[in-house]
Amino acid sequence: MFNAREELAGEVMRKKRASGPEGGDPAKSSPTSHALVIHGPNLNLLGEREPQVYGRTRLADIDRALKSLGRELGVAVETFQSNSEGEIVDRIQQARNRADIILINPGAYTHTSIAIRDAISAVGIPVIEVHLSNVYKREPFRHHSTIADVAVGRIMGFGAEGYYLALRAAASIAAQKKG
Ligand code: DQA
Repeated sequence: MFNAREELAGEVMRKKRASGPEGGDPAKSSPTSHALVIHGPNLNLLGEREPQVYGRTRLADIDRALKSLGRELGVAVETFQSNSEGEIVDRIQQARNRADIILINPGAYTHTSIAIRDAISAVGIPVIEVHLSNVYKREPFRHHSTIADVAVGRIMGFGAEGYYLALRAAASIAAQKKG
């Protein structure tokens, strides 16, 4: 089940694929890789949620910036947010044969979800784990991640910037994958 924001992202991507290169740098007009960005529970409240911990940037602004950076890097970026573990598992499964790489901030599910970990292992798509805060400077229960050892790498503590760093890493991993 796709939400409206995702539907729009998909539509933009379909149009981009249909329109093909528009001149100039081909990497900018025809993305060759597809990155799925998954935001877990409570990240829909970014900007108003504990801004001293998570910053003041809203999720919609992060998603917009990721899509724009993706255009520069030749990566079509699809974004998805859910507060529900099962929906996140569904979304990871749907990424099979579709996404070259996944960026995920599982929010609190980072520390508890074996289901999300299993979904990542099942689809075999490279995953980059992202956190806005440096979880190691916080409560001990945040120090454990169920997905750390099935992720390619982890970026944390840089606020919204961490997503952009992760997308740059994702672009080169996806390009290497395509050979
Ligand atoms: C978080 C860290 C988690 O511990 C927390 O539950 C979140 C956000 C982060 O981005 O820093 O929801 O993943």
